[in-house]
Amino acid sequence: MTSIDTSATTTTLVHRASEHDAWWRNAVIYQVYPRSFADASGDGIGDLPGVTSKLDHLARLGVDAVWLSPFYRSPQADAGYDVADYRDVDPLFGTLADFDEMIERAHRLGMRIIVDLVPNHTSDEHVWFQAALAADKGSPERARYIFRDGKGPEGAEPPNNWTSIFGGPAWTRIPDGQWYLHLFDTKQPDLDWTNPEVHEEMISVLRFWLDKGVDGFRVDVAHGMVKAEGLPDWAGHVSMVDGSDDGSTGAGNQGPMFDQDGVHEIYREWREVLDEYDGERILVAEAWVEPLSRLARYVRPDEMHQAFNFSYLTTLWDAGALRRVVTASLEANDAVGAPSTWVLSNHDVVRHPSRLGLSVAGSKPQGIGVGDEQPDEELGLRRARAATLLTLALPGSAYLYQGEELGLPEHTTLDDSLREDPAWARSGHTERGRDGCRVPLPWDADAPGLGFSPTGATWLPQPASWARYALSAQRGDPSSTYGMYRAALRIRRDFKLGSGSLAWVDGLPGCFAETTVAFVNGDVLVVANLGDEPIPVDPVHGLELLQASQPLVHGAPLPPDTTAWFRLPR
Ligand code: GLC
Repeated sequence: MTSIDTSATTTTLVHRASEHDAWWRNAVIYQVYPRSFADASGDGIGDLPGVTSKLDHLARLGVDAVWLSPFYRSPQADAGYDVADYRDVDPLFGTLADFDEMIERAHRLGMRIIVDLVPNHTSDEHVWFQAALAADKGSPERARYIFRDGKGPEGAEPPNNWTSIFGGPAWTRIPDGQWYLHLFDTKQPDLDWTNPEVHEEMISVLRFWLDKGVDGFRVDVAHGMVKAEGLPDWAGHVSMVDGSDDGSTGAGNQGPMFDQDGVHEIYREWREVLDEYDGERILVAEAWVEPLSRLARYVRPDEMHQAFNFSYLTTLWDAGALRRVVTASLEANDAVGAPSTWVLSNHDVVRHPSRLGLSVAGSKPQGIGVGDEQPDEELGLRRARAATLLTLALPGSAYLYQGEELGLPEHTTLDDSLREDPAWARSGHTERGRDGCRVPLPWDADAPGLGFSPTGATWLPQPASWARYALSAQRGDPSSTYGMYRAALRIRRDFKLGSGSLAWVDGLPGCFAETTVAFVNGDVLVVANLGDEPIPVDPVHGLELLQASQPLVHGAPLPPDTTAWFRLPR
């Protein structure tokens, strides 16, 4: 039988090992979504003391840094992405003193802290917006936002035809007849980044958190702050182009409100501020921009450090498409000297075990609810584990979303009446939205609320199946998903995979070439089988099995939907 025999194959190098050793070039960064991570106060909503109480778990898991979604003062119209005060903690999440305690503890455990910065819009309850409403048309207060007169008789039509990302119009009219722009919810008015006062204020916010010791910022909607001059109408069609040669999947936002050249000036300005501080503080772009060569413009040497790789996140479970997106990512980032990033899940998308359990494996629905296609939970988890081992072996920086180390699926049967994501209402109930990936974590299978909160309260109900995913049910079992993540992070570190190289294994036996992703990173051979047949991997040439996403005995063929890491013979 033909098999993968490393002594008889050649490889094609697409990325060389990095000579730089700055921490962020190869870091594993864990996203905490504070309202759903751990609740210390007992009100059913997670908080900063809850985060602090679980930092040991993250250190044990082996991550390098923690990124926290917003915990600032906010009316919570978009779960905190509507900030009313950038320099304070919302009482829901604790106090500034709780923040100080958290960061101090994280640093003591050797982990860095990245906070979320939301510069595209404020809350409508921010003092600036309140002042704008109280002031006159044409006033300096209004000039911090994008207020315009409407079109048509009495200006009753919005100034242009833009729609909000969450559905519905992107403009809201105020009593004196003017309209303001909001790319997201009505309660998230967009700031006007042509106004120098906006630049000054956001730099002062950066300094506030830098002085508090944060190690970086994840920049929300980093591709949206500058709009095309004149705010031209836009027809707004985005086409899906999955698996194209440049790695594009259709994940990039398009139109005159996104990816305008002017945004780069903002990041050059910010980079200078960050570079004044010691310790390699970083900027990470949340920019849904394609192709990858265009996204790489955000991480040029004098701009940001990293950008989330949403082309990778949205690639289907298809070996050819995965190889193309990995190659395109490495080439685009190498061209500007930046690390690639790899991410499978976050608080805005259906969790990857559920995406991978759909009939179109890896597709990205805008939420899943009762009446929608339900994922195959077992198959999805099996593929998710394989996808994770593939991801964690790639050179660059990897992002994990809270709960993925437990293999958590999306809550796909949440009662619609409980949904809080504004996208559900604004889309006219056509998009289920993101609540299903934001359900409070299960820590303890036997405790009320699965140990999320001391009272058992949880702001969204947990699915019944989650007891078996609880940390308490997996700890101590090396074959569990949690055990797999821990081992993978340890091996990744030991073998320096994050700062390593990538060479595709060429000339796989014909029957496997289409359905296999195989590469060498330093001393490690990675083989992912996305096909339906087991792949024999020849053990006689001294391959040593380091880890596999399914139980695998040395020398046995690699089953479908499984990834394995082998140490190459010296
Ligand atoms: C980003 C956030 C998302 C939020 C939106 C508006 O995409 O990740 O959660 O709703 O920006 O701030």
